[in-house]
Amino acid sequence: PQTLPLKGKKVLVSAGPTRERIDPVRYLTNFSSGKMGYAMAIAARDLGATVTLVSGPVDLPKPTGMTVIDVESAQEMYEVIMDKYDDLDIAIKTAAVADYRPKNLQQQKMKKQQGDSTMELERTTDILKALGDKKTHQLLIGFAAETNDVIHYAQGKLQKKNADYIVANDVSKTDRGFGADINTVVLVGKDNFQQSFPSMAKEKLAKNLLEVILKKEGQWQ
Ligand code: PMT
Repeated sequence: PQTLPLKGKKVLVSAGPTRERIDPVRYLTNFSSGKMGYAMAIAARDLGATVTLVSGPVDLPKPTGMTVIDVESAQEMYEVIMDKYDDLDIAIKTAAVADYRPKNLQQQKMKKQQGDSTMELERTTDILKALGDKKTHQLLIGFAAETNDVIHYAQGKLQKKNADYIVANDVSKTDRGFGADINTVVLVGKDNFQQSFPSMAKEKLAKNLLEVILKKEGQWQ
C-alpha cells in the first residue's frame, strides 16, 4: 500500500468565518460555511497528518481524528495559530477572516437613534501576513477570495504575505466558493506556477490540491 505522505507531519488548517462583535447581540461576519477548510483538514488527516483545525463559528459536524479548536474573532484565531506555528510543518489558511472589526465594542445593546448611523471600524491583524513574516521551515498555504482579476490579486497576495501557495477562488458566482458544495480554483505558486482546477466538490478539490502541492514539494511518496 502507498505510504502516507503526511505521516509524522503537523498540519494546521483554519476554516470558516470570524465574528466581530458590535454589542452583546450583534456582530459582523461573512458567508463562509467552513466547508472548504474542513475538507482541507480531512484530506490532510487522510494523508496521515496530525491535524489541528482552528474553526470559526460554523454549522458542520466536528471531524474525528484531529484536534478542533473553536474560535470566534480574528484576534482569537490569530492568538491560537501564532501559539502553534513554530511547531507546524504546514499551515493552511482557508478561513475567511474579517479585515475589520468595530473599533469600540459596546457593552450594552445599542439603542436605535433618530436617523442614520455610522460605525467606526479598525483593522484586524492579517494572520497570513504575520505567519509569512515569521516563517522559518513551514509550508504556508493561503486562500484568496476574489470577484475579479483573480490570478493577478492572488500573485500579489503570494508575495505580500510571503506564502508558498495561494489557492485563488472566484467568488463572483454564487454557485461556488462561499457556502457552496463546489469550488473552482487556480493554484498559484512561486516562479509563476499556476494550475487551474475544474469545478468540483470541495472534498475532492482538497485532496487534489494537497496532492499537487506535495508532488511539487517532492513530498509525495
Ligand atoms: O467556507 P466556505 O463556505 O467553504 O467557502 C470557502 C472560502 C471561499 C471562504 C475559501 O475557499 C476562501 O477563499 N477562503 C479565504 C477567504 C478570504 O478571506 O480571502 P482574502 O482574500 O480576504 O484573504 C486572503 C488570505 O489571507 C486568506 O488565506 C485569509 O485566511 C487570510 N487573512 C485575511 C485577513 C486577515 N485578517 N487574516 C488572514 O489571515
